[in-house]
Amino acid sequence: MKISILGTGYVGAVTGACFVEIGNDVVFVDIDPAKLDMIRTGRSPIFEPGLDELLKKNLDRISATTDTGEAIRETDATFICVGTPSNLDGSIDLQYIEAASQTIGGELREKEGWHTVVMKSTVVSGTTTGIVRRRLEEASGKEAFRDFGLASNPEFLKEGSALTDVFSPDRIVIGAEDPRSRKVLETLYATFDCPKLVTAIPVAEMIKYVSNAFLATKISFANEIGNLCKTMGLDTAEVFAGVGLDARINPAFFRSGIGFGGSCFPKDVRALIAQALAAGVPPKILTSVVAVNEDQPLRLVTLLKKHLPDLKGKRIGLLGLAFKPDTDDIRESRAIPITEELLKEGASVIAYDPLAMESFGRLFPGISYAASAEDLVQVVDAVLLTTEWKEFETLDYTGKLVIDGRRVPKAAVGSIYEGVCW
Ligand code: UDX
Repeated sequence: MKISILGTGYVGAVTGACFVEIGNDVVFVDIDPAKLDMIRTGRSPIFEPGLDELLKKNLDRISATTDTGEAIRETDATFICVGTPSNLDGSIDLQYIEAASQTIGGELREKEGWHTVVMKSTVVSGTTTGIVRRRLEEASGKEAFRDFGLASNPEFLKEGSALTDVFSPDRIVIGAEDPRSRKVLETLYATFDCPKLVTAIPVAEMIKYVSNAFLATKISFANEIGNLCKTMGLDTAEVFAGVGLDARINPAFFRSGIGFGGSCFPKDVRALIAQALAAGVPPKILTSVVAVNEDQPLRLVTLLKKHLPDLKGKRIGLLGLAFKPDTDDIRESRAIPITEELLKEGASVIAYDPLAMESFGRLFPGISYAASAEDLVQVVDAVLLTTEWKEFETLDYTGKLVIDGRRVPKAAVGSIYEGVCW
């Protein structure tokens, strides 16, 4: 199959690389020529382990262009993979989705033969059959499902393990309402050995949001219970190890700590809350999920102040700036509110991260950055563990005050140690 990927950010780059690996021709489209130059030379525009190798290996079936028309003319299907940022009230900002739909619609006007437009970006339920369909139809003068295909195919990729997730998914969700679009997606995923669920388009969109909201709920629940366990002298991890053995519950995503960050969970939960509010059904659980997640990183600073009541002028080291290990992504990283709080308290912040110092430096140019984790531990009055990078597991923390937000067992050896939920 010949496929256009519109948007070469995280989702587009990984999805395109997957499609090309399973034998399709892929045209990457983006407004940023620099990203396309990278793709043409087999370098991924985003950091994801294994992605460069995958692109390099398949370069003969990859092309890259800023010209959406050219891409649509030459391909059978277009996957919309553009960003979906948040508005100030937490609702989803659809400006890039609308612009993409408009452009694709304009190109479909002249296109002969069937072309399927697939929504890969995470959008609130009703977006694809609502505003996207309207923009496509207005711009093309054609009718969805009759003259061109429209479908939803959400992704469930975790940064850092996106390639494993994309090649060995738990399930593939196909939102399709016309037989031709359904066939396109079923053919594309024919070789995947996993449950494939075909639903109405708004159901597919909702599955994605509810999956993320449920996982976020598990984390906030683990954190709330974790805070209680801590006051009772219990280790939350032990409690959840037992809880997770119930097959109805499952042990995943119960790691308590300083909460969830990243480009999906915080944004998606807020967007779902905004949608529920707009629909007149104010959500109580989801609102609490966000509230717990906002308090949780600040608990690390509260625990620090138990040992160092006055942080003014104290050198506080942050180990880990990325929102999780194996990525350079700092979006909604819990290190951000922690740094803000420490600065408010007058502390002198020194940070280290193997990959994310450059982007954190743009956000916090006024704090210091250490050359290595070892250097940081040596010069600070206290260490805060904020991301569980592997290299932090072998450091020597002897004699240091350590407040651990991510459960790094070695950090408790020979140190004055506080775990956030244990
Ligand atoms: C998530 C979803 O897992 C993925 O399916 C979706 O497509 C996009 O959002 P991602 O944001 O890449 O993926 O990372 P994930 O590994 O899910 O972690 C998200 C955040 O939750 C991280 O900050 C992580 O530290 C935190 N987390 C995760 C916990 O605090 N506890 C856990 O038990 C699991």
